[in-house]
Amino acid sequence: MDKFVIRGGNPLLGTVRVSGAKNAALPAMAAALLTEEPVTLENVPQVRDIETTRRLLAAMGADVELGYGRAQHRTTICCRSLASPEASYELVKTMRASTLVLGPLVARCGTARVSLPGGCAIGARPIDLHIKGLERLGAKINQEHGYVEASAKRLRGAEIIFDKVTVTGTEDVMMAATLAEGTTVMENCACEPEVADLADLLTKMGARIEGAGTSTIRVHGVSKLHGAKHRIIPDRIEAGTFIIAGAITGGDLNVAGCEPTHLSVLLQKLGEVGLKVAHHGDSVRVLSEGNLKASDIATEEYPGFPTDMQAQYMALATQAAGTSVITENIFENRFMHAQELVRMGANIKIEGRRAVVRGKSPLSAAAVLASDLRASASLVIAALVAEGETIIDRVYHIDRGYEHIEEKLRSVGAQIRRIGEMLPKKIAAPLVKA
Ligand code: UD1
Repeated sequence: MDKFVIRGGNPLLGTVRVSGAKNAALPAMAAALLTEEPVTLENVPQVRDIETTRRLLAAMGADVELGYGRAQHRTTICCRSLASPEASYELVKTMRASTLVLGPLVARCGTARVSLPGGCAIGARPIDLHIKGLERLGAKINQEHGYVEASAKRLRGAEIIFDKVTVTGTEDVMMAATLAEGTTVMENCACEPEVADLADLLTKMGARIEGAGTSTIRVHGVSKLHGAKHRIIPDRIEAGTFIIAGAITGGDLNVAGCEPTHLSVLLQKLGEVGLKVAHHGDSVRVLSEGNLKASDIATEEYPGFPTDMQAQYMALATQAAGTSVITENIFENRFMHAQELVRMGANIKIEGRRAVVRGKSPLSAAAVLASDLRASASLVIAALVAEGETIIDRVYHIDRGYEHIEEKLRSVGAQIRRIGEMLPKKIAAPLVKA
């Protein structure tokens, strides 16, 4: 298992470029299931979740071509025939977003069999809202042996009010509705930019969608969709992660290739914390002169403060003078990074959904464990200012969603390197004589 070794103390200086959004690329790849024709996606990040989706689609009979060389961020997916409209537990358990194939499969093939995702590190994460939405569209749903089976001759448009805002739930049902007969009106939808990006792609494929990016989405069903070419939006969470990394190190970092309007709430918050943040075109420059001030955050659905930035913000809060209260409203168990930050010297108390961070605490290097994707990012950020050499284990979590993060950070001055297993298990284990 790979580890990161990070020596703290260097300010990040220069320009770093963000990749395409993983959370936009995943539903876009699933959308290719809706047509027999090829769908070409540009700006697809090279991260593990994309590779998992490639394997998932290929197992169903899709042709998935990944670009090489200069075209390495392009992928063309052709789902002419789908021999096996099924997503196995083996793949779904490693990536919950695999459930995004449920809606497109039942809409296109009339049948789908997708494993239930089960629990994950940051909470229960059920898919009941996906299921309810598809049932409203007329799908018959059966749950057996850990799988959801959905079937429908043809889905029918309906009115759907989500009990709770769900990003992939909105995307899943929106994709299904594109091929339904009649109009679907979805209320209480997620307004995330990734939902709007998916609707852009679907529109290029011939879908008729209004209101994506707002809480009410209308989809007028069509009988067939066609191929299209689409460029994935920049990753706002990767951009935010670099911005906080630049800020915590007291650096002067230009984060290029991002969409600053998707980062509004974060940039405003960083201004309150005492950072100088300026944006121009597709770049955000963050300049820190130290003296960070504590400020509270509460995670909310977009356009509120993203839960996917909470862990990184917590690392920053350890370096701000005063008390920051961090309230996690989206997931019930998303503070696993806090204990690891405490091991590095942070003063953090967890009270249910609230974390109380008292700063500023000097951080010192330790051996720490990454527990999930964004938790890993917060440990990398903390390590960049810790005294000494931090070793972060289980960085496969970070590889799920960050493209070559160590190379990007190194290019702006961080001392970070990746190492493999120090000792092969066979040698590390005690020898047992026969
Ligand atoms: C997506 C993002 C993830 C982000 C999250 C919240 C992708 C691939 N992932 O995840 O990075 O952290 O949005 O912004 O886009 N819920 C239910 N029933 C459901 C679905 C969700 O109760 O059927 C609950 C969840 O447990 C959670 C809340 O709704 O408490 C929001 O989850 P949701 O928006 O669905 O998260 P994801 O789409 O899985």
